[in-house]
Amino acid sequence: MGFDAQQQRKILGAFATGVTVASTRIGDETWGMTANGITSLSLDPPLVLLAVQKDAASHGKFREGGCFALNILTAQQQELSDRFAFKGPKDFSGLDYTTAETGAPVLADSLGWVDCRVTEVLDGGDHDIFIGEILAGETGSGEPLLYFNGKYARLIP
Ligand SMILES: Cc1cc2nc3c(=O)[nH]c(=O)nc-3n(C[C@H](O)[C@H](O)[C@H](O)COP(=O)(O)O)c2cc1C
Repeated sequence: MGFDAQQQRKILGAFATGVTVASTRIGDETWGMTANGITSLSLDPPLVLLAVQKDAASHGKFREGGCFALNILTAQQQELSDRFAFKGPKDFSGLDYTTAETGAPVLADSLGWVDCRVTEVLDGGDHDIFIGEILAGETGSGEPLLYFNGKYARLIP
C-alpha cells in the first residue's frame, strides 16, 4: 500500500483553489463537471490541464467531445458548482450560456473562461490528465469561489 489516501486528501485539501465548471459538447449534448484539478500549464504554446477521474462518466464525455471550456466561478455561482458536482446527466436548463469556438458551453457571468481543444490525454493514476490548447478566452470580474479543506470558502479582502 502506498501513502494513505485520507491523509493525502487532508494535506492537499489545505491547498486552497478556485473552482471551475469544465464543460464540453458531444453533438447536441452539453456536459459539465465541477473541477478544481486544473492548471495553467504553458504560455507558449498556450496550454492548460484538467485532471478527470477515470471512472467518472465525465471522463468519456471529455474524451468524446475532444474539447473543454474552463469556466472560473464567482462566489455568487456556488449553485453551479453544486449542480455540476452531482453524478449523472448534467442539467443546463435555466442557465445562461453561449457556445465557444469548439462547441463547449461558456457560462455567463464567470470570472473568466478559456475554450480548449484536447491535444493529449496522459495517464495520471486514477485520473487522466487532459491537455487543452487554448483557442479562445475572456476575463470577467467578481469575487472568486474558493475551495479549502473540503468546503467552499470566500476571499477575505
Ligand atoms: C470543488 C470540487 C472540485 C472537483 N474537482 C474535480 C476534478 O478536478 N476532477 C474530477 O474528476 N472530479 C472533480 N470533482 C468531482 C466531480 O465534479 C464529480 O465527481 C462529477 O461531477 C461526477 O459526475 P459524473 O460521475 O457524472 O462524471 C470535484 C468536485 C468538487 C465539489
